[in-house]
Amino acid sequence: MKEWYNKINKAINIDALEEVRIALFGKRGLLATEFAKMKDVPNEQKAQFAKDLNAHKQNLMNEFTAKKIALETEALKEAMKAEAIDVSMFSTSSSAGALHPVMETMDRIVEYFSSMNFAVKTGKMVEDDFHNFEALNLPKYHPARDMQDTFYFKDEMLLRTHTSPVQIRTMLEMKPPIRMIAPGAVFRRDYDLTHTPMFHQIEGLLVDEVGKVSFANLKFILEDFLKYMFSDVAVRFRPSFFPFTEPSAEVDISCVFCKGEGCRVCSHTGWLEVLGCGIVDPNVFEAVNYKDVSGYAFGLGVERFAMLIHQIGDLRSLFEGDIKLLEQFQ
Ligand code: DAH
Repeated sequence: MKEWYNKINKAINIDALEEVRIALFGKRGLLATEFAKMKDVPNEQKAQFAKDLNAHKQNLMNEFTAKKIALETEALKEAMKAEAIDVSMFSTSSSAGALHPVMETMDRIVEYFSSMNFAVKTGKMVEDDFHNFEALNLPKYHPARDMQDTFYFKDEMLLRTHTSPVQIRTMLEMKPPIRMIAPGAVFRRDYDLTHTPMFHQIEGLLVDEVGKVSFANLKFILEDFLKYMFSDVAVRFRPSFFPFTEPSAEVDISCVFCKGEGCRVCSHTGWLEVLGCGIVDPNVFEAVNYKDVSGYAFGLGVERFAMLIHQIGDLRSLFEGDIKLLEQFQ
């Protein structure tokens, strides 16, 4: 049996060792053959015979296990050597990063309004009830609050539901005239194909002396802006309601998918709603102590713009960080 110890130790790799294992410990292997001889051994020697054989078996097993571990360690070392990465080597396949489509869209919008002399303002994401609702003519228990449910903290603090509170912050901080936009994240208790709990808005506000600001001014700038963003689109204003503007309007563009023919995306109307706007309600000016002024305001959702510009079907995909989607915007 000595030679079997040698066989184990001479196995040059795992495959060779496996062959030795079968020949030794297999069903028809050496040990099985030796154990089978037991029946021919005289009864009084049987015990000793079995004891010797079992001792051998144990030793061979130990030898085998030790060899196996040694060969596996060797193989692992070889594999690591073969796969080692030379970190000093140049890679030709590095890919450039790109702005997220939402940020890129936001930048374009800001660019337009900056060129029209609107200053960029930021407010607070954790806002209070006064700025987010009360001062915007949305008193407690006003039904319009239902559409903007959010996360509430104690002491009347909340995650802002729109960028409109930045209007209030700016007016409390500055004297008129005002021309500002406010881009930023907002939060609502919504989640479906076209809504996420966090999204981005851009607010706009212009305030000047009475008589200097008209709905016609508002209409002109928004039409110009929408043509800048979507080039060849028709724009229409529909009467609507917002507590902080009077009169209020919602603005539609002709559907960018079907060019106004009617399709699934525009619910076969040929139009897509893209923003809300209006003439600032006198109650808002009263809340910030502005007298003898007039103004217009507007607000839009950045994700909605990004989806229409890039023809993205599911809003939620913008937040999944899927590299395949993001790579398309490089
Ligand atoms: N704050 C509104 C919203 O989140 C959007 C909006 C509509 C803003 C009309 C305005 C406005 O400034 O005049 O739904």
